[in-house]
Amino acid sequence: MEPVVIPAILAKTKEELLQRISQVNGLAGEIQLDIMDGDFVPNKTVGLDELVSIPALKNARYEFHWMVRNPEKWIEHIPGGHMHLVHVETIKSFAEIEAAVRKSGGRLGLAINPETPLEALLPFAARAERILVMTVHPGFSGQKYMVEMEKKISALRAKFPKVDIEVDGGVNLETIRGAYAAGANILAAASAIFAAPDKKAAIEKLRACALGDGTQ
Ligand code: DX5
Repeated sequence: MEPVVIPAILAKTKEELLQRISQVNGLAGEIQLDIMDGDFVPNKTVGLDELVSIPALKNARYEFHWMVRNPEKWIEHIPGGHMHLVHVETIKSFAEIEAAVRKSGGRLGLAINPETPLEALLPFAARAERILVMTVHPGFSGQKYMVEMEKKISALRAKFPKVDIEVDGGVNLETIRGAYAAGANILAAASAIFAAPDKKAAIEKLRACALGDGTQ
């Protein structure tokens, strides 16, 4: 599978959210929005009030990474064909989550924290279009990539040859190759893109490094 690099946005204010979206709008097929409720993770981002009015993207969709305690209560308020990544650690009723995604018109994916065993995800995996393997403990940008998660990625890839597998956390020019080689085809990055003066060049360079050609 070809590597796809997705910019990840963790914003605490509407201004910051809109500014970051405008910086990468048109540069990627998807943009990940990290949403945190200060309960499931020890950090809080923009909430529903800011999300209901986000701008439409140029030939792209949003991917919502729901780091919140009750994802179904959020998703039903976000109409459109977006990807909704729900943490397996937050599933109380999978049927309710599926119903919320259906109601929104979106698509469903699953996310799994570093300390959570793959077994927790497997009962739901066949009903997800995408699986996100966290390579940091969620909550903050700029953390160190947990290389040991590559075992989890390759175990998933062996079980599900066709599903989209994403990584998120500490993805940069040094770590992206290992994540892709382990079997992740979608690679989300925040600091590696937003800290660069030229976001388009940063995305292209990350993609080249995933393919093992960091010289471009
Ligand atoms: C971590 C978030 C990530 C984070 C990635 O809690 O889910 O998306 O923003 O940031 P970097 O790429 O800086 O590790």
